[in-house]
Amino acid sequence: MHILVTGGLGYIGSHTVVALIEKGYTITIVDNLSNSSLSVLDRIARITGTKPAFYQLDLQDAAGLDDIFSIAPVDAVIHFAGLKAVGESIQRPLTYYRVNIDSTLTLLEAMRAHDVHKLVFSSSATVYGSAPIPYSEESLVGQGITNPYGQTKYMIEQILRDVAQSDPDAEFSLLRYFNPVGAHPSGLIGEDPKGTPNNLMPFVAQVASGQREKLSIFGDSYPTPDGTCIRDYIHVMDLAEGHVAALEHIRPGATAYNLGSGIGTSVLELVHAFIDATGKDVAYEIAPPRAGDLPEFYANPDLAASELGWSTTRSVEDMCRDTWAWQTNSAKTRL
Ligand code: NAD
Ligand code: UD1
Repeated sequence: MHILVTGGLGYIGSHTVVALIEKGYTITIVDNLSNSSLSVLDRIARITGTKPAFYQLDLQDAAGLDDIFSIAPVDAVIHFAGLKAVGESIQRPLTYYRVNIDSTLTLLEAMRAHDVHKLVFSSSATVYGSAPIPYSEESLVGQGITNPYGQTKYMIEQILRDVAQSDPDAEFSLLRYFNPVGAHPSGLIGEDPKGTPNNLMPFVAQVASGQREKLSIFGDSYPTPDGTCIRDYIHVMDLAEGHVAALEHIRPGATAYNLGSGIGTSVLELVHAFIDATGKDVAYEIAPPRAGDLPEFYANPDLAASELGWSTTRSVEDMCRDTWAWQTNSAKTRL
C-alpha cells in the first residue's frame, strides 16, 4: 500500500513514517522543509533500512502536487504538514489561516482529481477549547479556542466533514492529538524546536542538558492537586502507531478519534519524572501563568481503543528517557 505523507520529515510525521515502513507500507513524503531538515530522511533510512521517496514541495503548489500524485498511484494520504506554533499564530494569523487552510484545500483537490479518498488528518485536542474534561469525541468542539492555530484545526475538521458528505467514497480520520512528547528510542529522530521551545518537555530537556539555566513553571495556583497544570502526555511512538491503526481501520465518512493516554500529569510531576528517569537536575522557578493555558485536560481514549484497537503502551518514564536519549544524541550530531 502506497501512502503519501505530507510533512513527513517533521516531528510526528518522521516517527509515523518509521512505524509505517516497519509495517511494510511504501511511503512518499512531501515536505517544504520549513520546519524540518533533509537529514531526517537519512535518519529514517538508518532506523528502518528503507529510504522513502521524498519531494521538497510546498503543499500550496497545486501543479507540483498534481505531478507527485501522477508519478505512482496513491492509496491513502496522511496529512501532517502545517504551521503549529500557538504564539506565532496570534502574531501572524493571516499566515496561519493561509498556509494551513490553503494547503489542505489544495491537497483535497489533488486527491479528488486523482481518485484518492482515504485521508488521516493531524487535528488537536485544542479543538475542544473550553469543553468539560475528560474530552470525548462527543464533547462540544469549537467553543473557547484561544488562538488562530487552534481555529485552523477546527475549521479543517469542518471542511473534511463537508467534503466527506459530498463524496460517498470518502474515508477520513481526524486524529485529535493530546500532548505529544518523547522520541524514537534510537535517539536518531525527535523534536528539534528552533529557538526557545514553547512546549514543556523540550524546555525541560534543554535545562537538564545545561543549554538553559532554569525552567519557568507557568503558575502554581491552578485548581489542581499541586497547583500546576495537568496535561495528557503521549509518547510520539504511541502516536505514530495510532496513525497506523487509524489507517488500518479507516471507515466511510469523517470520524474523529482522541489519541491520548487518558492519564493526567501535572507540570511538577513531569519535571520530577524527568529527574528520576535521567538522573539529571532540572532547576525551576514558579512564574506567572501563561495566557490561554487551561488548568487541566486529558482524553477519554475509549473510542480509539474500541474502534481502532489502539491504546498507549509507553509510560511517562519512557517519554522522559527517550527525550533525553534524543537530546544527548542530537546535541552531539547537531542536524
Ligand atoms: P512539525 O513542524 O515538526 O512538522 C510539520 C512538517 O510540515 C514540517 O516538516 C514542515 O517543514 C512541513 N510543512 C509545513 N508547512 C508546509 C507546507 N505548506 N508544505 C509542505 N510542508 C510543510 O510539526 P509536528 O509537531 O510534527 O506536527 C505535525 C502536525 O500535527 C501539524 O499539523 C500539527 O499542527 C499537528 N499537531 C501537533 C501537535 C504537537 O504538539 N506537535 C499537537 C497537535 C497537533
Ligand atoms: C500547547 C498548545 C496546544 C498544542 C500543544 C502541543 C497552548 C495554549 N496550547 O499545549 O494547542 O496542541 O501545545 O504540544 O499553547 N509550561 C511551563 N513552562 C514552559 C512550558 C510549558 O510551565 O516553559 C506548562 C504550560 O503552562 C502547560 C504545560 O506546561 O501547563 C504544557 O505546556 P505545553 O507543552 O506548551 O502544552 P499545552 O499548553 O498543553
